[in-house]
Amino acid sequence: MKIAIVGAGNVGGALGLAWAQKAGHEICFGVRDAKADGVQALMRAIGSKARAGSVAEAAALADVIILSTPWPAAEAAIRAMGNIKGKLILDATNPLARGPDGISLEIGHSISAGEKVQGWAAGASVFKTLNTTGFGNMANPVYNGVKSVMFVAGDDAANKPKVIELVSQLGFDVVDAGPLRNARLLEAHAMLWIDLAVARGQGRDFAFALLRR
Ligand SMILES: NC(=O)c1ccc[n+]([C@@H]2O[C@H](COP(=O)([O-])OP(=O)(O)OC[C@H]3O[C@@H](n4cnc5c(N)ncnc54)[C@H](OP(=O)(O)O)[C@@H]3O)[C@@H](O)[C@H]2O)c1
Repeated sequence: MKIAIVGAGNVGGALGLAWAQKAGHEICFGVRDAKADGVQALMRAIGSKARAGSVAEAAALADVIILSTPWPAAEAAIRAMGNIKGKLILDATNPLARGPDGISLEIGHSISAGEKVQGWAAGASVFKTLNTTGFGNMANPVYNGVKSVMFVAGDDAANKPKVIELVSQLGFDVVDAGPLRNARLLEAHAMLWIDLAVARGQGRDFAFALLRR
């Protein structure tokens, strides 16, 4: 499969490398500067399965687009994609704000980043996923033989199995978390991981799992 990744930073880089290495997918990074050191390092790490172009070029090449920009850049990045009718967008962003008490969510409860992304991405199907754990866990989601959990929320029931399969290929235990409005829950869940990592001394090497009886 051809996957476009818009936002070639910590998250985009980890996902691109993992999908190329674990599942053989072709990765096209949609970037503002294809010659940037970080982009070139990713090209070298992934090898022949990777290429980089403008955001519009990457989006045009792929059926699945990962949105992994900082939240303030999300709307501009989607507008830069051009015609995305019929594409699947996996929204990994979290609407983070920094204030006197540290990092918090800028929006929540009555709207989510995922729903806002869907509002900007007319004609595409947006799924909220890959936002609830650190990028290190996206590279390696397995702890002592146990898969960490990753949720997928989205309204496009016909394409949800495809998204679940794609995220499963990274090594996660993938759970359908319902409609896109449940991005409100997933973004709050992400904030818990961030708070534990940054403010409660857990560091980045921990993850949530779903236990079943
Ligand atoms: N870090 C994590 O562990 C983690 C985990 C889950 C979710 N997230 C979420 O994932 C998103 C990315 O996080 P990150 O840590 O990967 O950030 P990051 O390392 O700062 O990378 C962000 C990337 O987005 C690019 N970018 C910025 N504006 C853009 C635009 N208008 N068009 C195209 N690309 C643009 C930047 O490229 P330039 O070089 O051009 O600026 C950079 O490569 C955030 O929303 C974050 O909340 C992060």
